[in-house]
Amino acid sequence: MRLPESQVAVLNAASATDERTIERLADETGLKPETVTQAAFELREDGYVAVAETEVVEYELTEEGREYVADGLPEVRLYRAAVEAGAADDPVSMGQVIGASGLGGPEVDIALANFGRKGYGAIDAGELSADADADAESDPEATVLVALADGEDVDDADEETLEQLVSRNLVDRREETVRSVTVTDEGVTLLMEGVEAAETVDRLTPEMLTSGEWEDVEFTEYNVEADAPEARGGKTHILRQTADRVKDVLVGMGFQEMEGPHADADFWINDCLFMPQDHPARTHWDRFALDVPPIEELPEDLVDRVEDAHRRGVGPDGDGYHSPWSEDFSRAIALRGHTTSLSMRYLSGHEVGELEPPQRYFSVEKVYRNDTLDPTHLLEFYQIEGWVMADDLSVRDLMGTFEEFYAQFGITDIQFKPHYNPYTEPSFELFGRHPETGELIEIGNSGMFRDEVLEPLGVECDVMAWGLALERLLMLMYGFDDIRDVHGTMSDIELLRETEVLK
Ligand code: PHE
Repeated sequence: MRLPESQVAVLNAASATDERTIERLADETGLKPETVTQAAFELREDGYVAVAETEVVEYELTEEGREYVADGLPEVRLYRAAVEAGAADDPVSMGQVIGASGLGGPEVDIALANFGRKGYGAIDAGELSADADADAESDPEATVLVALADGEDVDDADEETLEQLVSRNLVDRREETVRSVTVTDEGVTLLMEGVEAAETVDRLTPEMLTSGEWEDVEFTEYNVEADAPEARGGKTHILRQTADRVKDVLVGMGFQEMEGPHADADFWINDCLFMPQDHPARTHWDRFALDVPPIEELPEDLVDRVEDAHRRGVGPDGDGYHSPWSEDFSRAIALRGHTTSLSMRYLSGHEVGELEPPQRYFSVEKVYRNDTLDPTHLLEFYQIEGWVMADDLSVRDLMGTFEEFYAQFGITDIQFKPHYNPYTEPSFELFGRHPETGELIEIGNSGMFRDEVLEPLGVECDVMAWGLALERLLMLMYGFDDIRDVHGTMSDIELLRETEVLK
């Protein structure tokens, strides 16, 4: 026969004598009293034990009760002082007796009330007389208090005395159900035949259900205080979540999204931007050149106009670079170092046709640079590209747009620094303060496109444009100080898990 482990333990422990209280069984089995009680009830259900219940009353001294054990009951002390003052013969002034008794504060009232109640004497017109026959030295209440203090049983004490002590708050009364377990004949038989502890399992399996084994096993108790294993599902990376938010914000500001190739012709990446072909950023040191055939499709007349701008400049007073120009160089493919290549594709009319002002476009896309890895630089990062085409734009429009944009992410102290780009005039770098280090960090680059850029593209109004770093925005929002913690092979997975994404 198999029974749950706790039942077997209780049955064995109870069989040693006739009757065992739950408390003793708990001591002997090492189980918790609740567990023993439950096992006992389960055993009783099967007829293996009987459980007898007795209500027992226990008395315990209160703090005040303990004080009176040491000092004597106030009424007894009053009686002693009264007898000493001669009040057993003639009434004595109450003030004199109280003064001699050493009683003070609330004890005085307690003493007087009980003195009268117990017939130790009488109080009349401010005088106190003591009953010479009263036996205050064997006060029954005091006797019970002392007995309790000595740990004696007071079950036999007078019920009224006990009640009085409880109502005086000198004694606490507790009622308890004491359960005793007796093994029945059936239980004895079972023990003789042999009973084994069933296996304890912590989970129910389909196999246990089909085999019926679930009926014989004991399930471990739930520990609702135990730490639960953390459940971690996949989640969208905070960089992606922030990118999505940036897109929402820009769409909310009236922008449309641009799309375009990651690997593109140098023509779109650099030449359209009036970047001279011998510019240091165009050497193999900085760009990720790709060993693929050159681009085939380029708008021929645009190529001519761009070449012309490079050679001779634009406008009546224009001046070009007088530097070498090679169409082969233009057609070579590389990974884009900025998404301004997309802006060129759109502004030229190559992607969605000729655009009439006003227009607003953006992209949040990856760019690739052969930088040295450090806490603020990666070989690839996300650029928030954008431009606004309209008549009569000024630097104030540019700054206002950034302020509005960054405010949506809780960043309100953007700073601007004059800068140089071959393709914008004027140009500004943007800075924001890192929330943890307090340092000003560069968060973007911007400006008004030059005529040398716009004229070949066929754009006749103003265009303000920018490229902002998504990772830097993330640093300002979440306080990261090493971008490699959130991006790439050295990512700090814990940090990514714990970072609460701002909504
Ligand atoms: N292309 C620039 C960069 O990568 C950003 C920029 C875009 C600046 C458009 C001005 C105008 O830093």
